[in-house]
Amino acid sequence: MMDRLDERIYHKPVMVREVLEFVTECTRSVVVDCTLGDGGHSYAILDNTQDTFVLGIDIDDEAVAVAGKRLNPVFGGRFHPSKGDYRELNLHLARVGIPRVSGILIDLGVSSRQLDQAHRGFSYWAEAPLDMRMNPQSTTTAKDIVAYSSEEELERILREYGEERYSRQIAKAIVEHRDKHPIETTTELVQIIQNAIPSRVRYRRLHPARKTFQALRIAVNDELSRLDAALRRCFSLLEAGGVLMVITYHSLEDRIAKRVFRELEAMGPGLVRTKKVIRPSEAEVADNPRARSGKLRVIQRRDVGGKGNHDQERGVEL
Ligand SMILES: C[S@@+](CC[C@H](N)C(=O)[O-])C[C@H]1O[C@@H](n2cnc3c(N)ncnc32)[C@H](O)[C@@H]1O
Repeated sequence: MMDRLDERIYHKPVMVREVLEFVTECTRSVVVDCTLGDGGHSYAILDNTQDTFVLGIDIDDEAVAVAGKRLNPVFGGRFHPSKGDYRELNLHLARVGIPRVSGILIDLGVSSRQLDQAHRGFSYWAEAPLDMRMNPQSTTTAKDIVAYSSEEELERILREYGEERYSRQIAKAIVEHRDKHPIETTTELVQIIQNAIPSRVRYRRLHPARKTFQALRIAVNDELSRLDAALRRCFSLLEAGGVLMVITYHSLEDRIAKRVFRELEAMGPGLVRTKKVIRPSEAEVADNPRARSGKLRVIQRRDVGGKGNHDQERGVEL
């Protein structure tokens, strides 16, 4: 059961029931929630297991603080929040003295809290500086990318990360505009996008700036670049029978997860548990439209004593 105030103040976690089905296979276990957010998945895992310990990681200081305040009073020492990058999971585990874990969850993308906090610049609905950093200590903001990327690079970012049909037109409009005035805020960028696209698509159901904002967020936070290596590293930290669960919201992320999982299975140490990708139910999407593009893939580690372990001992990432 979730805490009473969850829906009004916290990010609504996606495919919780499906994730729990895999987590509850492991008893007396250590689970890592690599993308803690408001701690919704962690809450459900702790609430539905007896003695699981959850290590929750997030790159955003505020997420770590919010989840700690929410979960520690309820679950005490069974929950440990930790600020940092899940792509360095080995370092987080070394810090708490845990060599291997039985479950790892990566719920990619942005949290509702980040989207709803206007000042962070993730949302095209509210006026704010063009920021979009999940980690407030990192140096590159969306304003920097918009100001300093070449037109070709902007076009690539919008096309690849946003799958934006009008990437060429929008990149050209950004460069023309910034030659006259620096682009500082979300609303200035939205206006530029609206003026760059054909008028017939300007007032469609989905906001015309949606894809550009998604693309810039992925670029600012370098979300795709090390995903392949991070998934292999996470997998190598599982104990025998342990599961790595990945929820993606973007076709590029999903393609990377699918390919890495297939390769780990072909090499021997992995068993793909989701031959068919798991999608949220219609009821969940009706209740939480932000879940609509979610895809869950799960891989299980067969045997730590096998080939994978030797690879890890030699320092080779699977
Ligand atoms: C979709 S939200 C997770 C929501 C969470 N499952 C919940 O139930 O509240 C994604 C979270 O991942 C975090 N994040 C993104 N990249 C990260 C990284 N490289 N390392 C750690 N956390 C990251 C974001 O700051 C964000 O809070």
